[in-house]
Amino acid sequence: MSRLILNSLKAQTSMTYQNILTTQNNKILTLTINRPDKLNALNTLTLSEIDTAITKAIDDASVWGIIITGAGEKAFVAGADIKEFKDFDIDQGRQLAANGHAIFNRIEQSPKPIIAAVNGFALGGGCELAMACHLRIASTNAKFGQPEVNLGIIPGYGGTQRLVQLIGKTKALELLMTADMVKAEKALDLGLVNAVVEQSDLIASAEKMLEKIFTKSPLAIKKVIQSVNAYFHGPTDGFEFEINAFASCCKTDDFIEGTSAFIEKRRASFKAL
Ligand code: COA
Repeated sequence: MSRLILNSLKAQTSMTYQNILTTQNNKILTLTINRPDKLNALNTLTLSEIDTAITKAIDDASVWGIIITGAGEKAFVAGADIKEFKDFDIDQGRQLAANGHAIFNRIEQSPKPIIAAVNGFALGGGCELAMACHLRIASTNAKFGQPEVNLGIIPGYGGTQRLVQLIGKTKALELLMTADMVKAEKALDLGLVNAVVEQSDLIASAEKMLEKIFTKSPLAIKKVIQSVNAYFHGPTDGFEFEINAFASCCKTDDFIEGTSAFIEKRRASFKAL
């Protein structure tokens, strides 16, 4: 049987969503935002489907890591759906932003690693979605930006905070105030992405990175994510949080297996979270 057929047999594709596709291949769930004719813009339904799929994946012991990408070759996500919110009043705007914050915070706090495979435009809410993921791999044609000031608004899904966290205040203010787009290589220089690869290698590169992470202790990965996030989420003291997270790893099965494997000079074998 050809490798292609075997792969498609292994993969389980969900048909229950309208605007996203989910495919599970071994331990990796790939979530594809699927509105290519609208450059995968995030309308309310798309956001809620992303939220549902991520929540399910976090609860599913067979999923160890997640890749988020966009359908087509042009865009990851070109932003929140401008047509949907253009007539919003203050209350509706607050609700839209608060909902986006809650969903993107859940992505950022996921105990399982989430990689954004950025395959084209990542603008506005698209850049914010990529920044909420733990890691970002971009294809050579990717472009990043926060163009909201062109529309008389500001980023509303955490962009003003996460852009500063990732690239520092100097460059963040420049991008936020000029609305300039940066190409993938520049995004790499800025520390906005972890790697830049050819578009044809994008998903394989994200899978390879996840496979490497999967050889580590899932419990320790979860604690790393929580501890790093704690650094940014006041009033929690990130240093104090790290002490407690470190302590809570001790005496666990993963801790015993990891330290034993080192001492016994063998590769550790960890169980699902
Ligand atoms: N919201 C809603 N629709 C969007 C969108 C968004 N953020 N971004 C793109 N689209 C739609 C376009 O309206 C168009 O739909 P139509 O064919 O029904 O008119 C379709 O996607 C293709 O976009 P188009 O603008 O024709 O493609 P382009 O190659 O000429 O330009 C961009 C690409 C990304 C530069 C341009 O689409 C753009 O500037 N988008 C908005 C980016 C933005 O401001 N994002 C932040 C929103 S808060």
